[in-house]
Amino acid sequence: MTSDGNWLQLVMSALDRSTRGAANHFQLATVTPDGRAANRTLTFREFRHLTDDLCTHSHTRAQKVTDLESNPQAEACWWFDEARDQFRISGSVQILTDDATGDDAAYRNEQWASLDRYEKALYISPDPGQPRADDASFNEAFSTTPPEDPPDTFAVLLLSPERVDHLDFSGHPHRRQVFTRTDDGWATEAVNP
Ligand SMILES: Cc1cc2nc3c(=O)[nH]c(=O)nc-3n(C[C@H](O)[C@H](O)[C@H](O)COP(=O)(O)O)c2cc1C
Repeated sequence: MTSDGNWLQLVMSALDRSTRGAANHFQLATVTPDGRAANRTLTFREFRHLTDDLCTHSHTRAQKVTDLESNPQAEACWWFDEARDQFRISGSVQILTDDATGDDAAYRNEQWASLDRYEKALYISPDPGQPRADDASFNEAFSTTPPEDPPDTFAVLLLSPERVDHLDFSGHPHRRQVFTRTDDGWATEAVNP
């Protein structure tokens, strides 16, 4: 065991080496209120400044938000094809909605401002997962100028890592290490792949 918690540098390095858009997407697994596994692809936005919280966005009425409200534990699985790295990042997810205050509210506003109009249109479109609405509702959302401030449907999800499992798939044998958050930083253990 060492106290070296350099997993974030490893992720940043894998991102830097990626030229394909796929690297900007990861899968996030949650547990539904009735105990089933659920998984979906999400867009990586950034690591929140001065933290190692992984930021992504969601509609507040999406199933994943219901899952996270009942159980905030989640695991991201992120494959970097060019770097040949897999990271499984697990921890709890904080949901920033229009109830957020102070720095969190400012951060949510910043994230909203960073979206293009097509991304913003998703948050004024008919609710996800509901029976298909008519085309006119979608046409309206995509042709309306999006609001300046984030609508109440816009949530920022922040995954705060507690355990990171890194598999380096680039050579043989593969190399795997597990980073675990401790009271004073990170513990790292090399394990068999
Ligand atoms: C490439 C790609 C990127 C996506 N990015 C996001 C995202 O950042 N946020 C999001 O809520 N859904 C995103 N989705 C849609 C989700 O995979 C999912 O279909 C949707 O969020 C509903 O999932 P849920 O019912 O589990 O909440 C993306 C899908 C794909 C294929």
